[in-house]
Amino acid sequence: MFAGMSLQNMLGTAAGLDKNGDYINCLGELGFGFLEVGTVTPEEQYGNAKPRVFRDLRENAIINRLGFNNKGVDYLVKNLKLKKYKGIVGVNVGANKWSQGKERIKDYLVCIEKVYKYADYISVNISSPNTPNLRDFHNEKNIIELVNAIDLKVSELNIQIPLFLKISPDESNESIKKIIEVIGISKFTGIIATNTTIDKSVLSHSASRDIEGGLSGEPLQRKSTEKINFIRKESNNQIPIIGVGGVIDARSFNDKVLAGSGLVQIYTGFVLAGPSIVTEILMN
Ligand SMILES: Cc1cc2nc3c(=O)[nH]c(=O)nc-3n(C[C@H](O)[C@H](O)[C@H](O)COP(=O)(O)O)c2cc1C
Repeated sequence: MFAGMSLQNMLGTAAGLDKNGDYINCLGELGFGFLEVGTVTPEEQYGNAKPRVFRDLRENAIINRLGFNNKGVDYLVKNLKLKKYKGIVGVNVGANKWSQGKERIKDYLVCIEKVYKYADYISVNISSPNTPNLRDFHNEKNIIELVNAIDLKVSELNIQIPLFLKISPDESNESIKKIIEVIGISKFTGIIATNTTIDKSVLSHSASRDIEGGLSGEPLQRKSTEKINFIRKESNNQIPIIGVGGVIDARSFNDKVLAGSGLVQIYTGFVLAGPSIVTEILMN
């Protein structure tokens, strides 16, 4: 059990792998304990110009600047209604690129309202580096405003499923401390740590350092684990954490658990190694 959800195992897919929920049934066959679909926005959007995903095999890494390409929340809801997979499916929600200020907050509310009946949990994504200024929601004033607006919606609709905030690894501990305080007195259940990093100095080779976008995979491993550790300590183990960032094998999976993750997600490691990594991690 985690946050009131009953799961077969602790390993799930991270957001972005199945943005529109087109592959829920087949991903569900691979042995994951849960799936997170999205990020989905109220309206369909194309995302940034291609090329926008870059693999760096020397570093076991991906740099992406997709920019929330997705078919819109209504399309995802249709897929959720049709799914045969019986496991846990979380939905990750975001804002359209062109929405500004209060419209951004409204975008999250629109998505939450449309998906909550068909999702097992909701993840509120404020940490993609590829939607300009989205990460400003980490600032104290902005996060309070967003969380208050979501709290109101949760009360109004009597939403009972767990709600997670997905954060960036590039925030200072001071900023994360504030976020923990805000989450602690809100209707949010926990935190997903972390999204991709824009800090390319963690790459050991310089070849990919100039590629614009968020870095994931092995170079992100330590940074995200440190943030998970910090959240666990700072919250006295009181905030449920879904850990993500650089899981590429059983050891890095265990590191995430030891740091305080109740559940663990994988994206880059799965893309680079293929489906066999699921059993490799879970059998060890
Ligand atoms: C190609 C790609 C697309 C992604 N899209 C999303 C997304 O839409 N929403 C989101 O919250 N995270 C997205 N992420 C971030 C992942 O969910 C995850 O937080 C990050 O990649 C770290 O995990 P990893 O090292 O296992 O890949 C994306 C990552 C990649 C590589």
